[in-house]
Amino acid sequence: MKGIVLSGGSGTRLHPVTLAVSKQLLPVFDKPMIYYSLSLLLFAGIRDILIITTPKDQDSYRALLGDGSAIGISISYAVQPEPKGIAQAFLIGSDFIGGDSCALVLGDNILYGSGLQRQLREETAKHKRGAVAFSCAVSDPERFGIVTFGPDGKPISIEEKPKTPRSNQAVIGLYFYDNRVVEIARQLKPSARGELEITAINQWYLERGELNVVPLGRGYAWLDAGTHEALVQAGEFVRIVEQRQGLKLGCIEEIAYRMNFIGLDQLQAIAGKYKASAYGDYLERLIEEAKSATARVTG
Ligand code: DAU
Repeated sequence: MKGIVLSGGSGTRLHPVTLAVSKQLLPVFDKPMIYYSLSLLLFAGIRDILIITTPKDQDSYRALLGDGSAIGISISYAVQPEPKGIAQAFLIGSDFIGGDSCALVLGDNILYGSGLQRQLREETAKHKRGAVAFSCAVSDPERFGIVTFGPDGKPISIEEKPKTPRSNQAVIGLYFYDNRVVEIARQLKPSARGELEITAINQWYLERGELNVVPLGRGYAWLDAGTHEALVQAGEFVRIVEQRQGLKLGCIEEIAYRMNFIGLDQLQAIAGKYKASAYGDYLERLIEEAKSATARVTG
């Protein structure tokens, strides 16, 4: 399965902060926002990733993530000239997707919860045909794609920003599709707001009984960083969880190591580069822990 991170958009709700910097590169506490969405693809075991950015921001993403080889993955880049809708990612990424299935994550998606890694691995492992989306309860459902479920737990409706929402279950920005998604995206017409809507793609699968929506329960936090206040709150949430647990959220280098995409030597090389920061100290600590665990086993 391939993976796309959609990291375009104009970030107007964060102006003037986003005039010169892409929203998804802004810090959420100790790492750039895009790390959190990238980590979802890594959890799912996806190592071939396309990052779609605005034309002006691509160089910054390349400077941050390069070709991905430092963390044992392959990253390529494409541009979205204008934000014409989330589903446009499949048109821009059609060559990259080729004949594969594809996951899409929005670059501002921050998701945290117990069992997330296992859940994402399972969904990718069993995914053969159709689409998989995830939903979370929200207090402002008119702002999102909203799904309702039938008594058997199957989705029965999905609507984009309904004026009178039929539920509070918002579809979050992480989706898995089979290869038909490219052709479906080609057939889409822009919505009233002039965008190729991801919800229209999900509706296509829903109408054919091929959309599975996994509700994420109370144990999950899905955070928005789209306004100045929400951005600070998301950073504060990450800071509190990390300081309490002594573990990092969305640390792509740690995930790559734990997923066996890289070994200790590669982790050490990154830690060496970041040695002036607390982030580097954390990677050093992981290395020390791994070394003493190995010493205990072999000693
Ligand atoms: O966050 C989940 C929601 O994302 C879903 O519940 C909705 O169904 C889905 O339509 C979308 O809602 P919004 O329309 O409010 O998304 P927004 O325009 O804020 O875009 C989400 C991110 O995707 C944002 O960081 C910018 C990026 N984006 C968006 C568009 C429309 C792009 O990179 N290119 C685009 O063309």
